[in-house]
Amino acid sequence: MKKHFTRRGFIGIAAAGSAAMSWLGARRAPAGFTPEVDKPALLGGRPAHSGGWPRWPVWRESWEPEILQILRSGRWYRGSGGGKVPEFEAAYATLLGAKRCVALASGTTSLITALHVAGVDAGDEVIVSPYTFIATYNAILINKALPVFADTDPATLTMDPTSIESRITDRTSAILPVHIYGMPCDMDPINAIAEKHDLRVVEDACQAWLAEYKGQKCGTLGDMGCFSFQNSKHITSGEGGAITSNSDELADRCYSFHNCGRATPSFPGTGCFTRGSNYRMQHYQASMLLQQMDKFVKETEVRRENADYLSANLKEIPGVTPARLPENSRAVWHLYPLRIDSKQLSGLSRDAFLRALRAEGVPCSGVYHEQYNDGLLDEAINSRGYQRLFSAKRLKEYRDSFQELKGNAEVCTTTVGLSQSLLLAPRSDMDHIIGAIRKIQAHSSMLAKA
Ligand SMILES: Cc1ncc(COP(=O)(O)O)c(C=O)c1O
Repeated sequence: MKKHFTRRGFIGIAAAGSAAMSWLGARRAPAGFTPEVDKPALLGGRPAHSGGWPRWPVWRESWEPEILQILRSGRWYRGSGGGKVPEFEAAYATLLGAKRCVALASGTTSLITALHVAGVDAGDEVIVSPYTFIATYNAILINKALPVFADTDPATLTMDPTSIESRITDRTSAILPVHIYGMPCDMDPINAIAEKHDLRVVEDACQAWLAEYKGQKCGTLGDMGCFSFQNSKHITSGEGGAITSNSDELADRCYSFHNCGRATPSFPGTGCFTRGSNYRMQHYQASMLLQQMDKFVKETEVRRENADYLSANLKEIPGVTPARLPENSRAVWHLYPLRIDSKQLSGLSRDAFLRALRAEGVPCSGVYHEQYNDGLLDEAINSRGYQRLFSAKRLKEYRDSFQELKGNAEVCTTTVGLSQSLLLAPRSDMDHIIGAIRKIQAHSSMLAKA
């Protein structure tokens, strides 16, 4: 069986780090570096980087007294009113410029909730980006709807808006774009299509805290935005999630759904008025998030500066292409992705490129593969429920349509992802990454034969 590096496993490896030296094999050396050896580490040269990388996540002792206070208070669950969860919701909404925020147990439960509240029902179809963490697919399946994949634009790595309309059917009820790696999708055309066909837009912003599109934060561009605070994320409580919205009605419905379907002030009553589950966040998690807020905002700027520096340098290397962002947008770089063109690298495969880059001391992975071929969707569409909900003809057509995802296939086989914690390292370490990639490019024909 093919072994895939998981994104989370990869982040763990990156955080472990290693030991360093500086090398640069390049035509143009960044300041402060002496080009010594131009041999890639895989061919016996010295690694470009061996000084370790920032650990992730980071905890501060000064955050502990508040957590202890919560634990000792015995008020751990939000049901009793007040406390850190509503405080976090207000702070996160303000940070993002959203009218409302509801904190939840995870990004996955946020997506499940938002899709339900958006009206996605059994037998519906949702247009979604295939290039994402598997939870995005599952949130649709758990709502007993069909995840219909738009193609991925290889230049941006996000949903190709031109591939949406041909996939809309009379069952389509929502569009679920994913701001993957914290890179905003091109939301104007997506929202225009949604408006034209009367569809809801739920943003998967699970990797896009503070990312911006045309002056507005991701998560506030559609009807609802979903965030994850899982352990690998830029702001984390181990597990955790949030939904943002500018609609009181949608936010209240999300609140009810995540609180066992119980009434809210705007949907009064004593009982449950809607289906729902228990997806509540706990106060100690909210305290962890609140206390990280300033650090997270500052680190976002560091990641951006380092990512811009990497992009400016890497785009000059033949065979290497950084991702293109929509105009007037700012990414937050959960991972830093670049695409490689084997043809311009003497036929060096993506896997060989990854091996060579890891040998240089730069943790990297191919990140997402074509997950729709893994069996999850076959399991769903072969189930009794899906066979009742959809015609055999529709399910066959649906299964066959995965082959049309040419852009996504290209992205899955040519992308190299660098962990977000690398972007918190000093600028000199960015030079090591650039140097390592220049070295690989310059020796690609030897590496391709190695
Ligand atoms: C794009 C995307 N969607 C959804 C999720 C699910 O979030 P969680 O792990 O908090 O359930 C994640 C988290 O890894 C993600 O990266």
